[in-house]
Amino acid sequence: MKPKIIVANWKCNPESSQEAQKLFGISDKKNVVIAAPYLFLHLGKELTYAQLGAQDAFLDNGAFTGEVSSRQLVKAGVKSVILGHSERRIYFGETDELIVQKAKAALDFGLSVIICIGESQREREEGTMMAGRTIRRDVINSLSGIPPKRSGKITVAYEPIWAIGTGETPNPTDINERAKLIKSTAESLGLFGVNVLYGGSVDENNCSDFLNQPEIDGLLVGGASLVSEKIAKIIKIMNNLNGDIYPVVHKEVPAKTKPAKEVKRGTTKKKTETKKTVTLKPKKALAKKQAKPALKPKKSPFSKVKKSVKKKK
Ligand code: 13P
Repeated sequence: MKPKIIVANWKCNPESSQEAQKLFGISDKKNVVIAAPYLFLHLGKELTYAQLGAQDAFLDNGAFTGEVSSRQLVKAGVKSVILGHSERRIYFGETDELIVQKAKAALDFGLSVIICIGESQREREEGTMMAGRTIRRDVINSLSGIPPKRSGKITVAYEPIWAIGTGETPNPTDINERAKLIKSTAESLGLFGVNVLYGGSVDENNCSDFLNQPEIDGLLVGGASLVSEKIAKIIKIMNNLNGDIYPVVHKEVPAKTKPAKEVKRGTTKKKTETKKTVTLKPKKALAKKQAKPALKPKKSPFSKVKKSVKKKK
């Protein structure tokens, strides 16, 4: 079974580096992605277990005041990026077209992408059938054109807009069905193995209801990710469910014992060394993984952007 994951979306919070540092410390656990504001990304370089994420990414470097590109994020140690969050679609006018462009660029640079979709209150009122249609439409519009070879780096976050920050949550079994629909729609585009997260008013009390659904691969947590006790509890519940009571370093890399030979040759000192390996090796492995160079995009999306900017003039 794949481990479930928690993505902490801090949005435009917190206010100070001290608070950010504290939150990074609390959330630095296995199977967690911390999508911090750009301002605090440098603090996330110290993370041992959690992965550093961002909340948006522009296509590429250049004369784009106020933007931060995927290329820059990779250099800053970011591994995943949230794209097309409903708040970006609503307040910043992001379109499906731009989101697909951003996703392609981010994937080309080696980032994993978390693409957000979800129906509005009006679409919700139009009924369940409509919700299904909306989901299919959103998946097609937000993922069309993404090369199938990138499937493994794509996550869709299903966040009904009416559930974000409202305290109102949908029925977890309905969400399980929707997650299934998202996956089958992605498959119809050639994208197999896409993960699906649920987001919207997740807290320490309701998280296990969603995490226990087989088609839901994890949670995108907003408000509760800013409250130490809440996020600590959510992460603990998730990792207990994953069966990972201990951090990844103790579980994924077994101690290299090769006992027979080594014990014969060694002394008691040898035993201590074996013990040491258990904690050190995985950290090395992690460092190696992080050091993997990002892919260079074959074709820079920058030229496209430049062209469209020129046209507008
Ligand atoms: P809340 O958890 O605060 O409802 O926010 C959800 C969200 O938008 C995460 O991206």
